[in-house]
Amino acid sequence: MPPRRRASSRSNLAFERRFVRELPFGTCVGIALPSIMSGAGDDDPFDLPPILHPDEAAFARGLSPIRRASWVGGRVALRAALTAIAFDAPAPILATPRGGPAMPSGVLGSVSHKNDLAVALVARAAAAPAVTVGIDVEAVRALKRDIARHVLTADERSALPPEGPARDAEVLLLFSAKEAIYKALDPWVGRFVSFQEATVARAPGGGLRASLALANGEGPFGVELHQAGEADLILVAARVTPGAP
Ligand SMILES: CC(C)(COP(=O)(O)OP(=O)(O)OC[C@H]1O[C@@H](n2cnc3c(N)ncnc32)[C@H](O)[C@@H]1OP(=O)(O)O)[C@@H](O)C(=O)NCCC(=O)NCCS
Repeated sequence: MPPRRRASSRSNLAFERRFVRELPFGTCVGIALPSIMSGAGDDDPFDLPPILHPDEAAFARGLSPIRRASWVGGRVALRAALTAIAFDAPAPILATPRGGPAMPSGVLGSVSHKNDLAVALVARAAAAPAVTVGIDVEAVRALKRDIARHVLTADERSALPPEGPARDAEVLLLFSAKEAIYKALDPWVGRFVSFQEATVARAPGGGLRASLALANGEGPFGVELHQAGEADLILVAARVTPGAP
């Protein structure tokens, strides 16, 4: 068993900024989550960072420790990203009835967390066109079970590399893109959208492109994707614009 690190060294890292990235759809901030997320210290309390609004802190205190860590990390990332774009957000950012971050008027935002990282994407809302954004983060890893059948369409599966690390990475990338799309699409459709209702493929230039086949016939929507991952991290941003795809 690896030696347990002291709580003080953990708390130094918790909620520290990992990166700030300017993406085509907004500003993305990554925040380190406390070690409770790795299962290394689930008995170790962590302090709620002062950047939280008091109502956010009160909400966080009502969550289980692991959920508190990820939720707080997402709010810290959101608030750090809002600071980066010089957007003042004096009110608490809680959740919409559908679970997304209830962003203040005038700004768009999306949150994702995986393992020891929380990320948020924010952008100032333009008067027109009205767009929405989504972000998703995944850790590149060997898949313990084949999720492709559940999260990919038959066309997507047929374009995958042969079994191995490259296939796992591609499955995770397409999965991540769909989760980012889901978050950006949800404000427009307000319902669960299945993994079979979106198709993601490699664009000729190396990026990603998406098409929707929404079961309830909503739309059309334009969907743009941007991948900003590196090495062992998959990071996909989505932007949805009502109108012709
Ligand atoms: C909602 C969902 C996308 C969240 O993804 P996840 O991998 O479980 O978790 P992530 O850490 O990436 O994202 C969690 C964040 O998503 C956001 N979120 C949750 N529901 C949301 C919704 N309906 N709309 C927008 N954002 C939402 C929240 O901000 C949440 O973090 P928070 O509660 O701490 O604020 C996922 O649980 C889900 O239901 N997926 C199935 C449907 C799907 O992806 N279909 C793809 C078709 S396009």
